[in-house]
Amino acid sequence: MAASGVGDERVSGEVRGEEEDDDVPQLSAAAMEALREFLAEQQRPEEQDEAGGGEGGVELVPEDWRLSQFWYDERTARALVEEVVRLVYPSGSGSAAGAVACIACPTLYAYLKKTDPGVPAQLLEYDERFGQYGGDFTFYDYNRPEDLPPAMKHAYRVVVADPPYLSKECLEKVAKTVSFLAQPEGSFLLLLTGNWGSWQCSVK
Ligand SMILES: C[S@@+](CC[C@H](N)C(=O)[O-])C[C@H]1O[C@@H](n2cnc3c(N)ncnc32)[C@H](O)[C@@H]1O
Repeated sequence: MAASGVGDERVSGEVRGEEEDDDVPQLSAAAMEALREFLAEQQRPEEQDEAGGGEGGVELVPEDWRLSQFWYDERTARALVEEVVRLVYPSGSGSAAGAVACIACPTLYAYLKKTDPGVPAQLLEYDERFGQYGGDFTFYDYNRPEDLPPAMKHAYRVVVADPPYLSKECLEKVAKTVSFLAQPEGSFLLLLTGNWGSWQCSVK
């Protein structure tokens, strides 16, 4: 009985082994290409990882895909900066009518400050590598949407948000942060997402 049991086990093990070989997961050509790109990206030297290249561009830390980080290219960043500047300096006035809060959009913050170092802007970010921006950096986790310094409450004329995830849960929490930050007397929101494009609306 025992011998027979062992034999059965061996045979079924062999059969299972053959089945397993057939079932080895295969990546599609597109997935292989994405993986190759990811690995190449990870191996790029840090100094090459910048949005827009050396001239006119800004240097950013390498994207960390585990944090859903996808940096704007230079053209996108500059178009956004143009829009933000238009909202901060109404009718081309020389002085800023308010401050800008950049929620999870470090590339925008970097281009904004490069374009206009004097513009009052704050970067709210989860990735502490952006602590390099000193007092302009505030640690932010969308899971704790209002866990922010009281001085930031209702202090921003322009709020730009590029949430890390497209889920309802994430967007609802980020919306709470936007309400926390926005000036109640009138402010502007630019919400940027991967799928839906971007739009602008006035928050009253
Ligand atoms: C889709 S990217 C937006 C970046 C933008 N495209 C740019 O170039 O500046 C999402 C951002 O959310 C940040 N992030 C990741 N996890 C987060 C969290 N738990 N709370 C807040 N932000 C987070 C990432 O570090 C990243 O900067």
